[in-house]
Amino acid sequence: MRSHYAHLGLLSQLSSALGHESARLELRWMMQALREASNRQRGSSLAEMVARRMSGEPLQYILGSQPFGPLNLLARSPVLIPRPETEHWTMRLSEYVTPSASRPISLLDLCTGSGCIPLLLCHLWPSGSVRAFGVDIASEAIQLASENTAICGFHTPSDNPPSQSPSFRNTFRPILSDIRDPTFLRKSGLYPPFHVVTSNPPYIPRREYDSLPPSVRDFEDRRALLGDPDSEQGDGLTFYRDIARLVANEKLLADDGVLAVEVGKGQAKDVERILQDQAKLPKTTIWRDPWLIERVVVATR
Ligand SMILES: C[S@@+](CC[C@H](N)C(=O)[O-])C[C@H]1O[C@@H](n2cnc3c(N)ncnc32)[C@H](O)[C@@H]1O
Repeated sequence: MRSHYAHLGLLSQLSSALGHESARLELRWMMQALREASNRQRGSSLAEMVARRMSGEPLQYILGSQPFGPLNLLARSPVLIPRPETEHWTMRLSEYVTPSASRPISLLDLCTGSGCIPLLLCHLWPSGSVRAFGVDIASEAIQLASENTAICGFHTPSDNPPSQSPSFRNTFRPILSDIRDPTFLRKSGLYPPFHVVTSNPPYIPRREYDSLPPSVRDFEDRRALLGDPDSEQGDGLTFYRDIARLVANEKLLADDGVLAVEVGKGQAKDVERILQDQAKLPKTTIWRDPWLIERVVVATR
């Protein structure tokens, strides 16, 4: 009885911040997360979870997970929470490129965060059809991506010698490195070219970063968001220029390869031009997200 009243109190607190319907749903998910966690570890209490939510923390960090297609990935601050628009284009890419165990491919995901993009592709493509690698500058991201790899049931190979035959299962290796360091490929033991290169890099211009909601700015890594890390100004497109340089100078992409990069609202045309002019990838298409915003530039030779 006492716990029933306690729950009603928490529900009323949460309702004041979120409205009754959202509060009811979120409280149910929190209780479910607590039940699931109780066998594995002693975590926080329901009251602590509600207090965190009242302070503006995103629900996914409190629950510790976020669905991404059929996967349920771990989510932990400050690693960027995978977004539905990213899930949408990753599913579409899984049908656009069709590897098989007899024609396996290699994939490099730049700025991999939780590893959501390569892990979903590893899940959707046939067994033994892809060897994937993901690079991120944040150790928290690489730790989380490694845990997600294990949870999704994929192996982490130690290297990618180009001649090695594919293993029986799809593999994903998260690597801690700075993609803006000109020597990062060599340092990371990565051997281009790759058949598929994907990226959802940081792309928010500084002026927009300052007006992001506190739930994003206070909990998600600014390195995951700010598109021009070296500048107070900028158009948010620094990472696309870096990626174009890698494609042009380091032969990152196979001749018949596919590059797919997520972009911010209103950036698609500029990124298309960068990839055509600087990466020398003349054929480009723009994919829209479910809200009809131009969200991804796909480029090939
Ligand atoms: C927008 S988040 C995308 C994360 C994930 N791919 C996703 O879609 O949810 C960008 C990621 O880029 C990483 N990052 C920022 N600067 C980087 C750099 N110089 N080299 C490698 N990764 C970087 C951040 O740590 C962050 O995880």
